[in-house]
Amino acid sequence: MSETVIHVTVNGEARAWRTQPGDLLLDVLRREGLWGVKRGCETGECGACAVLLDGEPVNSCLMFAAQADGRALLTVEGLAESDRLLPLQEAFLDHGAVQCGYCTPAMLLCAKALLERSPKPTEAEVREVLSGVLCRCTGYKKPVEAILAAAEATPKPRAKTGRRAAR
Ligand code: FES
Ligand code: FES
Repeated sequence: MSETVIHVTVNGEARAWRTQPGDLLLDVLRREGLWGVKRGCETGECGACAVLLDGEPVNSCLMFAAQADGRALLTVEGLAESDRLLPLQEAFLDHGAVQCGYCTPAMLLCAKALLERSPKPTEAEVREVLSGVLCRCTGYKKPVEAILAAAEATPKPRAKTGRRAAR
């Protein structure tokens, strides 16, 4: 079968990957050293393999790598800025929301996508977004608290006053 080179932006860096037809995105990401992308059910049920594709969560076990050609991927390795964790990551630590950690990368990425489209989500919205990621340890109470706390810690967007700035 013929090899194809796909061009992707991964965690902000342009990359070119050699892929075979039929290669799953999950397999290629892990082959490229992005082990924060976890292999779980491989059937789209557990969400452990979630990454952000152009800012939206996708299950990488359900996509061919070729479908990511020309697009931007974010994995958990790209969340922290240099050595600083995101407030969302800090909140997971502060709230004891990480146990074995297997589901944590997917939870963080899904939460990041949620907070970007809805900076002050309701608890129901948080629970809804986490419903696609199965946690085998204890469940969702602490992650929900952590995400709500991270949202609370984020400054509110300034209200528009409609006034022109003084010149
Ligand atoms: S490994 Fe992809 S959804 Fe479970
Ligand atoms: S923390 Fe272990 S599976 Fe969620």
